[in-house]
Amino acid sequence: MSMLDLDSITQESLVAKGGRKWSSFPGSIGAFIAEMDFGVAPAVRQALREIDDRDLFGYAPYDATADLKSATSTFYAGHCGWAVPAEHIELASDVIAAFIGVLTHLTPAGTPIVLPTPAYMPFFEVAQATDRELIEVPMIRSETGWAIDYEAIDAALVPGATLVLCNPHNPIGKVYGEDELLRLAEVVEANRARVFSDEIHAPLVFDPARHLPYAGLNETTAAHTTTATAASKAFNIPGLKCAQLILTNPEDRAVWARRSGFVSGAASNPGILATTAAYTQGAVWLAEITAYLKGNRDHLTDLIGTLLPNATYLPPEGTYLAWLDLRGYGLSEGLAKHFNDRAGVAVTEGRLCGQVGSGHIRLNFALPRPLLTEAVERIAQAL
Ligand SMILES: Cc1ncc(COP(=O)(O)O)c(C=O)c1O
Repeated sequence: MSMLDLDSITQESLVAKGGRKWSSFPGSIGAFIAEMDFGVAPAVRQALREIDDRDLFGYAPYDATADLKSATSTFYAGHCGWAVPAEHIELASDVIAAFIGVLTHLTPAGTPIVLPTPAYMPFFEVAQATDRELIEVPMIRSETGWAIDYEAIDAALVPGATLVLCNPHNPIGKVYGEDELLRLAEVVEANRARVFSDEIHAPLVFDPARHLPYAGLNETTAAHTTTATAASKAFNIPGLKCAQLILTNPEDRAVWARRSGFVSGAASNPGILATTAAYTQGAVWLAEITAYLKGNRDHLTDLIGTLLPNATYLPPEGTYLAWLDLRGYGLSEGLAKHFNDRAGVAVTEGRLCGQVGSGHIRLNFALPRPLLTEAVERIAQAL
C-alpha cells in the first residue's frame, strides 16, 4: 500500500508553494512544464537539510562529486543493467547545458542536428544557440504505435551530424526497444554520424516497458554516443541543477577533460548531494511515484476515451507526458492559449515540439488524480 497520499494534494497548496508550474498562469491547472506535484523523496529533503545544518554553501567538495559518479553508475546498473564505470561520468548543470557542451566541444562546428519529432521544445533553441541547422524527421504514427523513419534519418544524416535520441521520448512517451535501437545504430554508423542520447526520463518507465541505454547496447553505439541523464525528472529536482553526462568514447573523454571544465563545474553543490541521495536512497519513493503515474496514465486513457472521443492519443510507456492529437476537433494553432483562457488548464502548445505538432497539445499528467480528472473535464468542455 502506498505511503503517499497524493490524491489529497490540493490546487491551493500547490499554488501556495509558488513554483513556476502553478504561478505562471494564475487560476489555471498547471499541466505544462515537466515537474511533478508530488514533492521529493525523504532522502532528498534530508540531504538538503544537511547542507543547511553543515553550512555547505561553498563549491562542491571533490569527494561529493566522486560519490555522485559512483551513485550514478550504481543506479544505472540497478535500474537498467548498464554497468558504466564511474570514471566515464561527467557532470553538468543540466541536460541542455550538457548537450550544448557536447555539440560545442565534441562535434565539428557547423554540423547539423537531426531531430525526430515531435520533440522536447528546447532542442530547437539549442540548434539556434549553437548555429546548427536542425533537420526535423517526423516519427511515423500508426494505429498501434510510433516508429522511427529510418529512411528519412538516413537521408538527413551526414558525417559528423548529431542525431538526438530522446529515450523515453518526450513528448510521445515512447520507450525504444532493442531491435529499433540496433537498426538506428546501423543508420548512424553508415553515415559516420553521432548520437546524443537524452535519457533524463529513464527511471520513469511503466511495466512492461524496460529502458535500454543506447550506448550500453554494444561497442559501436558506445563509440558514437554521448548520453545525458539526471535525477531532475524522476526525482523532481530540476531546480537543483545537476545532470550527468556519460562519455563512452575514450577520445570524447580526453577532449572533455581538456576543454569542458566549465560545463562540469556548473553542477550545483545542493544538486550533487541531493542527486546522490536520490540515486542511493530514493528507490522506494520512486517506485511509489512510478506506480501512481502509471495509474494516472491509465486514468487519463479512460478519461480521453469518454470525454475526448475525437482526440487521438497513444498511452505513453514512460514519462509523465501525454501527446494529444486534437485535429479531430478542427484545431491547429493557439491551443495552449485557448485551453488556458477557456478551460483554465495550462498545457504545452504542440507546435513548439516541431512542425508535426500543429493541432496537438502536450499534457503533463503528474498531477494529483482529482486535478487530472478536472483538467480533462475542463478541456472537454472548452472544445
Ligand atoms: C527530454 C528532456 N531533456 C531535457 C530536459 C531538461 O532537463 P534539464 O533541466 O536537466 O536541462 C527535459 C525536461 O523536461 C526533458 O524532458
